[in-house]
Amino acid sequence: MANLTEIGWEEFEALSLEEKKPYLQRSGADAMPYHTLFAQQFDRPLLDRLCALSNRIRFINKSREGALYLKSVLAHKRAMLYFSQPSSRTFLSHLAACQILGITTGSVRDAATSSEFKGESREDSIRTFSSYFDMIIMRSPERGLAERMSWELSNSSRPVPILNAGSGKDQHPTQALLDIYTLMRSFEEKGGLDGRTVVFCGDLKRGRTVRSLSYLLTAFDGVKQIFVAPKELQISQDVLDILDSRGVEYTLSGDLKSATPLADAVYMTRIQDEWDEAKGESAKIDTSRFKFGAEELSLLPKDACIMHPLPRRDEIATCCDRDPRAMYWRQMRNGMWIRAALIAATFGLEKTIMECGY
Ligand code: NCD
Repeated sequence: MANLTEIGWEEFEALSLEEKKPYLQRSGADAMPYHTLFAQQFDRPLLDRLCALSNRIRFINKSREGALYLKSVLAHKRAMLYFSQPSSRTFLSHLAACQILGITTGSVRDAATSSEFKGESREDSIRTFSSYFDMIIMRSPERGLAERMSWELSNSSRPVPILNAGSGKDQHPTQALLDIYTLMRSFEEKGGLDGRTVVFCGDLKRGRTVRSLSYLLTAFDGVKQIFVAPKELQISQDVLDILDSRGVEYTLSGDLKSATPLADAVYMTRIQDEWDEAKGESAKIDTSRFKFGAEELSLLPKDACIMHPLPRRDEIATCCDRDPRAMYWRQMRNGMWIRAALIAATFGLEKTIMECGY
């Protein structure tokens, strides 16, 4: 166990993600994260425990008595949802997760309605939120801001936990958790996730969900990863270096049609053109071969699933929407349950909920 109060910011920042991990854990023996900043904080035992807790919350919430019990567990806590980038699902599912656990919420979604508009720094805004709230769920275009704020808050008189709901092009750990939860549930009765092949397709260079999920998949035995993208948007070397260091088998490809028959899951993503350095840069890339349509559907194995973090544009044709292998709708709802589990675990309630009488 390490603590962020025992290390200076520069020294902490220079550590590898693996080395940072113990500083972000809850104090005590449960090994759950306190600040959730990146996917590298989750190993297989932790993923299994969080999925079990999600299933438990999902089950308890089915009865009125159970739902009311869950609403009491964190009724004394308040959470701030601070989203300075657009969001529908991540915002709403965190909000719903808080509601399931009885947490009262506040939100800022537009800097124009906060003092940032008057020139306040993001750092000062977050410190302000920590004065009034017991948790900060934040999305920011700035890579590393959640990390810096975790250090700042841990070294302040209000060391409230931070949950990263998307940081720049870098990480989206709670999306990766819901993706893993969806995959685990999809393959639960079909021999599990070990040994499967996951095909990632689309903008893999700037898609933070892919970066986080690719890492979480390394927690499973023998999961192969195939990265299908136009060469300009192919997965970054730093992700491949991690896969190499963990002995993961992967392939880079430019051909979705030949990868699809090999897939147990196809994870489609949209072109992240909001990150274009020159306006219209992405529009010049030929992305027409990186879309999942009727032909790909016919090539997809019968037990495989189609996933997407959403929002989609046209990278999955609507003709796939009612196919039983389309998992993107379920992914959204799974997000609410796993986020409720993560928030409950952050506040030390894993055992209480797992062992309650409902
Ligand atoms: C993703 C994101 O914001 O990174 N959306 C989400 O959280 N479900 C993916 C995207 O915007 O393409």
